[in-house]
Amino acid sequence: MGGLSLKILRKEGDDIQLLCFPDEEVEKGDYLLIRDRFKDRSLIVQVIDVQYANIPGILEDLLRDGISEGSITGDDVDPFNVSSQIAVLKDTRLLVGKIRGALEQGRLSRDVSWLPSRNHSLVELMPSTLLMEALSAKHSFELGSTRRFSNIAADLNALDGRLNIVTGRKGTGKSHLTKLLVTSLVKEGAPAVVLDVNGEYVNLGRSLDGRQMHLSPKIIALIPGVNLRFSLSQVGLSTLLGTLIYALSLPENSARVFARIWHELEERGELTMRSLGEAIATYDCHESIRDALQARFNTLDDSGIFSDDPRTALNFEEVFRNHSAGCALIVNMKNQYSALRRITVELLISKLTDLLSSQRLRALFLFAEEAHLYLRETYWDDIVTRMRHLGLFTTFITNQPDTIQNSIYRQADNIFLFNFNNEHDLEIVSRVAKIDADTVRMIVRDLPPYRCLVIGDIVANFPLVVNVRPLEVQTLGATRYFFQSQITAA
Ligand SMILES: Nc1ncnc2c1ncn2[C@@H]1O[C@H](COP(=O)(O)OP(=O)(O)O)[C@@H](O)[C@H]1O
Ligand SMILES: [Mg+2]
Repeated sequence: MGGLSLKILRKEGDDIQLLCFPDEEVEKGDYLLIRDRFKDRSLIVQVIDVQYANIPGILEDLLRDGISEGSITGDDVDPFNVSSQIAVLKDTRLLVGKIRGALEQGRLSRDVSWLPSRNHSLVELMPSTLLMEALSAKHSFELGSTRRFSNIAADLNALDGRLNIVTGRKGTGKSHLTKLLVTSLVKEGAPAVVLDVNGEYVNLGRSLDGRQMHLSPKIIALIPGVNLRFSLSQVGLSTLLGTLIYALSLPENSARVFARIWHELEERGELTMRSLGEAIATYDCHESIRDALQARFNTLDDSGIFSDDPRTALNFEEVFRNHSAGCALIVNMKNQYSALRRITVELLISKLTDLLSSQRLRALFLFAEEAHLYLRETYWDDIVTRMRHLGLFTTFITNQPDTIQNSIYRQADNIFLFNFNNEHDLEIVSRVAKIDADTVRMIVRDLPPYRCLVIGDIVANFPLVVNVRPLEVQTLGATRYFFQSQITAA
């Protein structure tokens, strides 16, 4: 690959600045190699910003030369062709880059401590083979393209055992990317659960023209209270107490009474909603406690989330067993009131961790959209520690980055950043530990829709600006327009 006419201006730690002449086309996110012509080694540099080069010294020099020349002879000649040089200078750009690694004798190396020579270095675009090699993997899927590389195949293994974040402004393509991740995992045989607050994942098994595709038997849409129901005995007292306390704010003294009622029913072998309702109504306790219990019981009962008929309760174990070649359970929480979302998620997570800890399920990928709407405070840390240990690998998706806890930013293994244009959001997402804050700020604020900065294991720790590829399945939940039919009909 030919050299570019770029010059090294400055290097400080892993920051590097290059001068780029007007005829070169270089964009944010591009990777360059700075090759030492005499030693077989190169620095790998990513361009994170393109600015005008303000080189006052040089500019002044040239200007002074030009002016003094003209005033002596008193005419308009431009013997040194200064004006065209100044024109070039005005369009000369300053590339702000970050050193991401090095090549020694053709092999990737992390030794970036050496200083490339200003005189003997050649700057060139990084050849695609190098990136392809770094990304090559057994379980790869097509993520999209970059400006220079038509097909970026990323490694699904890099999601396995990991914690991931997808964030960006509304409408930039987060859910779209998540659908790509979910379908890719399911195709490779993995089990996934999607907490879908907008009901937009339910048609992932259908092609754009509505036909069912081979993926369709693997996409299982669940509606809480309809086909996602639990039996009391399946749930158990501790989970139910947790749900009552956290999702329905049941006071502690009432919770103690509830436990007593539960034990009595259990001894009698009558753990049904019906008996529970009757027991609460007649239990000998303070009126305020009974009222508190009664109100929570009514909420649970109305939601339909509990069923006394074991045949209508969802048998998770069986579902996963029957779909050993991969499946996605889509929990459709569209239009649900917030308490019901919380109840659903409490019961679901408890059930899933139960399956995982008893080894009835090996591992599971959980996708949580706008988790602050339904995930209790204490679960966030649990998800990165205990549950992850058990095999629950979570991806958080949100357009409000401040709703994701700091510990998640610090520990995330893969981060997909779509556009943000306000300082507050940029500040929050630049907390991710995997990359420097400069890169995040400079790249993310200018990203167009459908394009994201991918950071982490999934891109072999070479941050990439990727155009996420289109999907061949239905992405229901796309914004509806009133005038759309007229537009297409016209
Ligand atoms: N890479 C892409 N290629 C084609 N269409 C896309 C892409 N990403 C998003 N879209 C479309 O753009 C719209 C908004 O995307 P969506 O993923 O719902 O945004 P977000 O979840 O960030 O609010 C949707 O109609 C979606 O189908
Ligand atoms: Mg979305």
